[in-house]
Amino acid sequence: MALSSQSRAAAPSTSYNSHLEKYLNTASTERIPRVRYGHRNRISPSSASADVSRFADFGREVKGIDPGNLSSEHFKEIEHLLYKYGALLFRNVDLSPEQQYALTKAFDPTCENYGHGNNKTENTKNSILHPHLKTIPRVPQVQLIGSGKVYDHEGLAEATLKHPSHTTFHKTRVSEEDEALGFTRFYRWHMDAALYDLSPPKVTTLYGVSVPQGPRQRVRYDDGTGDELEVPLGTTAFVDGKTMFDILPPELKSLAVRSKVKYAPHPYVWMAPAHALSTGLGIESEGLEMSLNELPPWEESKIKTFPILWKNPVTKQLHFQVHPCGVLRGLLYKMQRPAIAPKLVYPHDWHEKDLMVFHNRGVLHSVVGAFTKEQVRAFHQCNLAASDDPVGPDAEDVKKWS
Ligand SMILES: [Fe+2]
Repeated sequence: MALSSQSRAAAPSTSYNSHLEKYLNTASTERIPRVRYGHRNRISPSSASADVSRFADFGREVKGIDPGNLSSEHFKEIEHLLYKYGALLFRNVDLSPEQQYALTKAFDPTCENYGHGNNKTENTKNSILHPHLKTIPRVPQVQLIGSGKVYDHEGLAEATLKHPSHTTFHKTRVSEEDEALGFTRFYRWHMDAALYDLSPPKVTTLYGVSVPQGPRQRVRYDDGTGDELEVPLGTTAFVDGKTMFDILPPELKSLAVRSKVKYAPHPYVWMAPAHALSTGLGIESEGLEMSLNELPPWEESKIKTFPILWKNPVTKQLHFQVHPCGVLRGLLYKMQRPAIAPKLVYPHDWHEKDLMVFHNRGVLHSVVGAFTKEQVRAFHQCNLAASDDPVGPDAEDVKKWS
């Protein structure tokens, strides 16, 4: 049986669209606040070993405006900044799920469905995403993610949240003794995308509702390099896809600019039996992935084949955007591993009411670390399956880099 388009999430009520319209038209007629995002508002890593030169154009804290009530002029400015800097941080923001959905939708106004759809296959028990997503009932495009038990939350009487950790997905794990000492791992480097049938969301918004504070942890790469990175508890780690491309040697740049990646159908089901590498940057080559005839019904026409490099709509620069777990290890790992070196990772230090908006087609990110039962964490996450597929290198790019 083939999947039909009806298996996608139901279209939201028109009230969302009118909310969006209102949201885009709430311009202040009296005093227009100035958006502040200058050089001093960089959000580069605090670690002494970070390569600060690589973060000059990555990430900005934005001040002076309320992201839940942007005028259309301010939204345009924010949209431009997002594509320019890859990640924008707003601190101490009050943001309802409706506002978060409206903000996310403003980047791609005709989109209405959560980035993974609400389709039956990605939410089956077989999908590696299944345990981590709880939907806000009023706004099904916004997911509640985190760790521990949450009560009476935005219409959910009770929810048990599971913070994904390397202990369930990686081939090897940090020993319990080392975990007690604060060692941990990246969980899974990724972009937020179904990679089958639906187009990869342009942006993701992540909002910290409850953020437990605790001792910092130390990420071990455990890949023979000795690489380690100190991170705040429960950080979200980001790397820039532009840097991932920029630091490649010429011969790999040449290959990247001319190559495409074909993802498996229902990739999160396909990869479920497999084990991740210790770096969280892909899966081990053990042949454990599901065979195509074991997968839920799929259609060739819905399989996604994307260029390795995606062109930034504002800067026109190329970002290396491959979901490392959706493809088998090999040359791609060699191309992506240099960019997750400790000096190139931005581990965000979350505080309650932080809103992070990131260019999902320009950066990769990873959940990190683990919480105790007492450390309850609740985040709202929203991204929308896009209205189009990403654009790859143009003829001039190919000529320049190959
Ligand atoms: Fe994610």
